[in-house]
Amino acid sequence: MTDTRPPKIRIRDLHKSFGAKKVLDGITLDVPQGTSFVIIGGSGSGKSVLLRCILGLIVPDSGSIEIDGENILTASTKRREALRSEIGMLFQNGALFDSLPVWENVTFGLLARKRLKRSDARTHAGTILAQVGLDPSVGELYPSELSGGMQKRVGLARAIAATPDILFFDEPTTGLDPIMGAVIDGLIVDCVKKLGSTAIAITHDMASAQRIGDEAAMLYKGRLIWQGPATSLMNSGNPMVDQFTHGRREGPIGMELRK
Ligand SMILES: Nc1ncnc2c1ncn2[C@@H]1O[C@H](COP(=O)(O)OP(=O)(O)O)[C@@H](O)[C@H]1O
Ligand SMILES: [Mg+2]
Repeated sequence: MTDTRPPKIRIRDLHKSFGAKKVLDGITLDVPQGTSFVIIGGSGSGKSVLLRCILGLIVPDSGSIEIDGENILTASTKRREALRSEIGMLFQNGALFDSLPVWENVTFGLLARKRLKRSDARTHAGTILAQVGLDPSVGELYPSELSGGMQKRVGLARAIAATPDILFFDEPTTGLDPIMGAVIDGLIVDCVKKLGSTAIAITHDMASAQRIGDEAAMLYKGRLIWQGPATSLMNSGNPMVDQFTHGRREGPIGMELRK
């Protein structure tokens, strides 16, 4: 049987500039229901801006973004907020609230949307912390008291707290040692599977991209220049992707930089 549902996320000809700087230059992308999609690309290539556009944190200049067939850019503020609450995000730098204990960080979105009673929040946070391999007692600590790996786990706990349909991961392994990176990737894969979510992860870590991704694409100069299965990232046959994934100094990307 063919799947007749619209893609979970459908992006058409998305453009975004900051002043004279063109960051997204016509992004077109379908992310099917239940797929883990990895977007790779160099620093400053617009990966975070793309995720922030889908999240509604940045308004694109033109183009469309649909979630479940509904254009979020033309939806009412209330509807947009509802769609956004279906997305869990693990931010690049964790973005935890330093002044709040871990339990309140984890349940922040649920409390703000009144989907959880404050008196139940500590217990609920403990359950979610356990899902990312942390002892419920970590809930009483403050972000500054956590190691980098623990902060990522707490960020992941916050992202999955509302059992979202869609999960975004912004460079989930950046700043972690390779072993902790693998642990976090494993947790991400487990969480996505358990929730049955559709996921987009952006990264420049090739090991991570292959662990997390089903599908992959490469962002370069504001465009998606390649798309294929994550398993072919290291042998895509595309000279730019090859240079990037193998970290070669010489190649079409380097030649661009020297111009
Ligand atoms: N709010 C903003 N205002 C101005 N420029 C921005 C803003 N956000 C991102 N940029 C610029 O857009 C480009 C892409 O940024 P980003 O998406 O964060 O890159 P990355 O691929 O490393 O995640 C960068 O040159 C960055 O400086
Ligand atoms: Mg980024």
